[in-house]
Amino acid sequence: MSKIITVLGSTNIDKVVQVPRFGASGETIHTNQHLVEAMGGKGLNQAVSSARSGAKTNMITKVGKAFDIEKNMAVDNLNTDAVMRSETEETGQAYITVSQETGDNLIYIYGGANDDLTPADVQAHAQEIIESDVIISQLETPIETVIEGFKIAREHGVKTILNPAPMPEAGGLPDALLKLTDLIAPNEHESYLLTNLELTDEESMLRSAVYYFKRGIDTVIITLGERGSFYMRDNGEQAIIPAFKTNAVDTTAAGDTFIGALATRLNPAFDNLPEAMRYAAAASSVAVSRPGAQPSIPAEDEVLAILAVSDH
Ligand code: RIB
Ligand code: NA
Repeated sequence: MSKIITVLGSTNIDKVVQVPRFGASGETIHTNQHLVEAMGGKGLNQAVSSARSGAKTNMITKVGKAFDIEKNMAVDNLNTDAVMRSETEETGQAYITVSQETGDNLIYIYGGANDDLTPADVQAHAQEIIESDVIISQLETPIETVIEGFKIAREHGVKTILNPAPMPEAGGLPDALLKLTDLIAPNEHESYLLTNLELTDEESMLRSAVYYFKRGIDTVIITLGERGSFYMRDNGEQAIIPAFKTNAVDTTAAGDTFIGALATRLNPAFDNLPEAMRYAAAASSVAVSRPGAQPSIPAEDEVLAILAVSDH
C-alpha cells in the first residue's frame, strides 16, 4: 500500500530569469533569456516531489481567489481538498534569478495568500493529517500554523518532518515547534542560523546534531549541497550520504525535491535513512540538472533508473 503524505505549506508562482551572473547593489544586468513562469513554492514543490515518487499526497495550502491551481495539481494526482482561498491576498509569488555561471539562485518572495494560512484553516483539514503516515512543513507559511499542524500530527502518531526554510534571519525557532518535530532537515545555511555552528568538519556536524537532540528532535539531516548530506539519530547512528554528480543548470527546488522524495522512502521508524537519503539524493540531482522548480522534479522511474546504474 502506498504511503500517505501531507504537505502543509506554500504555493507560489515562480518568475524565473536566467542571468549571466549575479549583480551588486545598484547594478543593472541584461539577459537575453526568456522569462519563465512556472509553479513553485517550497510546500507545493515538496508535495509534487512526493507525488511523483509514488505517495498519495495531500496538500494543505492557500492561494488567491482567482487562481485555478487544482488543474495544475491534478496532473500530479495531488489531493486538492485542502486547497483554500484567501479573500484578500493574491497567490504567493517568487522572483528568482538563476546565475548561468553556477546554477545558483537568488529568490525574493511575496508571501501573499501563504501568509494568510491560519491555524484554524489547518484544524478544518485535520482529517488529511490524521490519515497520513507523515506530515512535512517548511517556513513559508506562519509558524503558528505549522505548529498547529504538527500538534494534530503528534496527537495521532503521525511523524513530522520540518524543513526550516527559509529560516528567519534572527530569533531562531520557537521551542514549541522543535519539540513537535521528529525529523529536522535544514541546509547548511539554515542550520547555521539555528545553531550558530558552521558545518566545516565532522565535529561541527556532530555538535549541530546534538543541538537538535537537546531540543527534543531525534533525527537530523543536514543537506550540504555538492558535499551530499549528513544524518544523525539520537542513538548515535550517523553518516554522510554522497551527492550524485550532475551538471548544475538550476538548483531551484533541489532541496524541496530531496525532502519530498525522502519522505516517500522512509519507513515508519525512520531507521532506513541511508537508503531513503540515497533515493532522495538521486531525485535531487535530476532537479539540479534541469531549469525551474516544479518542471525539474523527477518521477519515480527516472530516479530508479539513476540508482540502477550508479555504484554508490
Ligand atoms: O525552494 C524553491 C522555491 O522557493 C521556489 O519554487 C520559490 O517559489 C521559493 O518558494
Ligand atoms: Na531545478
